[in-house]
Amino acid sequence: MTRHLITSAIPYINGIKHLGNLIGSQLPADLFARYQRGRGREVLFLCATDEHGTPAELAAKKAGKPVDEFCAEMHEVQARIAEGFRLSFDHFGRSSSPQNHALTQHFAGKLQENGLIREVSEEQVYSHADGRFLPDRYIEGTCPNCAYDKARGDQCENCTKQLDPTDLLEPRSAISGSTDLEVRETKHLFLRQSTLRDDLDAWINTKTDWPVLTTSIARKWLHDGDGLRDRGITRDLDWGISVKNGDQDWPGMEGKVFYVWFDAPIEYIACAGEWAEAHDLPEADWQRWWRTDKGAEDVTYTQFMGKDNVPFHTIGFPATILGSGEPWKLVDHLKSFNYLNYDGGQFSTSQGRGIFMDQALELLAPDYWRWWLLSHAPESSDAEFTWSSFQQDTNKDLADVLGNFVSRVTKFCRSKFSEALPEGGENGPEEIALIADLQERLGRYQDHMEAIEVRKAAAELRAIWAAGNEYLQETAPWTTFKTDPEKAAVQIRLALNLIPFYATLSAPFIPDAAANMHENMGTSPEWPVDVNAALHALPAGHPFTVPEVLFAKITDESVADWEVRFSGTRD
Ligand code: 2FM
Ligand code: ZN
Repeated sequence: MTRHLITSAIPYINGIKHLGNLIGSQLPADLFARYQRGRGREVLFLCATDEHGTPAELAAKKAGKPVDEFCAEMHEVQARIAEGFRLSFDHFGRSSSPQNHALTQHFAGKLQENGLIREVSEEQVYSHADGRFLPDRYIEGTCPNCAYDKARGDQCENCTKQLDPTDLLEPRSAISGSTDLEVRETKHLFLRQSTLRDDLDAWINTKTDWPVLTTSIARKWLHDGDGLRDRGITRDLDWGISVKNGDQDWPGMEGKVFYVWFDAPIEYIACAGEWAEAHDLPEADWQRWWRTDKGAEDVTYTQFMGKDNVPFHTIGFPATILGSGEPWKLVDHLKSFNYLNYDGGQFSTSQGRGIFMDQALELLAPDYWRWWLLSHAPESSDAEFTWSSFQQDTNKDLADVLGNFVSRVTKFCRSKFSEALPEGGENGPEEIALIADLQERLGRYQDHMEAIEVRKAAAELRAIWAAGNEYLQETAPWTTFKTDPEKAAVQIRLALNLIPFYATLSAPFIPDAAANMHENMGTSPEWPVDVNAALHALPAGHPFTVPEVLFAKITDESVADWEVRFSGTRD
């Protein structure tokens, strides 16, 4: 049986992510992982924090903390929020882990051994006062174009002109303000990606089932201009993974670290090692997910990410893996997302615009957000979050359709029969028709989930819920009861059996509500194969309890309040 390795793009450490980030990778990855587990398949679902690079250093500086301390704290914050959204990672790792240090250095060593690394000398600005090289955004000065005096080494914010640090007039360090700067020569390692073009090309050509959007981005990078030009994989920074060749020093590379985009995807692998360590498992247990010479031939590997990450996952990371010459697993399916916008503009971390994950959980339980975000996933185009759409759709789907169904059926049974499934006769034509309809819909739902068509899967699930309501509407057991209680019993027994059926199918989207439904019905999740059998699973006499309100409606007052509260920017 296929085993599923699933990874979500690993979020940067520098701050709490917004809902656009969430729906761009972690949440759909969780949906897929939960679905595959629900089908009884073995899953390893991994995510981590992306902790290196200048953004981490800058954020730590802003917070007035040493960068390692800042990262450790922010990792815990992100981990707790992930739990709040019920993201079911088997492990939430850290790209700063010892495993990633060792593995990143190992890959660099293999690439060197295979002749895929060259050393390049470059000129960079060195600050005597800070005792370090300054990356572009650490240098400020006067723009030669518009005379703005806070232009950065890579761009002038005022006139938007792209700059080189050496273009700036009166340059100074953004760290210390020092003007005691000097242009010095420094050496860096470059990955000779262009020599891997044929291997990469051949590999991409095997991906006939990938969306054209993805393969066209990859092909463009492979063949156009300088898309595949050699890539610098080291930086003059303090924070990061020291440049080493395996566990050996790399002469001339002292004091340098690997570039964050080199080590971040390697964390997908290292994270499996962290998972094994956290569970006291031997190396072989994580290697069987990642090494095709150690059991990973039957693994299907699916990656989730926003569209801006696609080049790094179709070219950058595969180049590292292919270039190593070692039998590491390459991605089989890559699911990428467009952007979610917020109320007529963009979500923005730097500007604090939109709803951030911690804030969302303060307002409502995770299932509301999960359902709206997944059922509006920005798959074929960008999508937009508006408060009115959020209110309308969650009220309708979750409260009016699903919640109301569960509540009506359980309350009716309690009042007319008891808090146990009633005795009843044979199915009539309405029941037979409903079962046939649901059997077809179940097939379609599974197909969409297997294909990771998130919106289509949500639409089918909604239709499955609605079919139950339509059946109730049509058969009206409360009316039937007056003239033919036995027939009403058949109807209500079927309807009660629908609750665990719904719970199991809905769990990937709304895990908390699904768990409550199972608890009330005294059932446990079992993926249905034959709908007729599933809807006769609970026998007469099986006890249940009437649930508390599954989904309270979102009121106009709340929305009016939230609309105002989230119209500006976060402090
Ligand atoms: O775009 C981002 O949020 C990056 N931190 C994603 C990295 S994904 C992977 F390569 F590790
Ligand atoms: Zn300017």
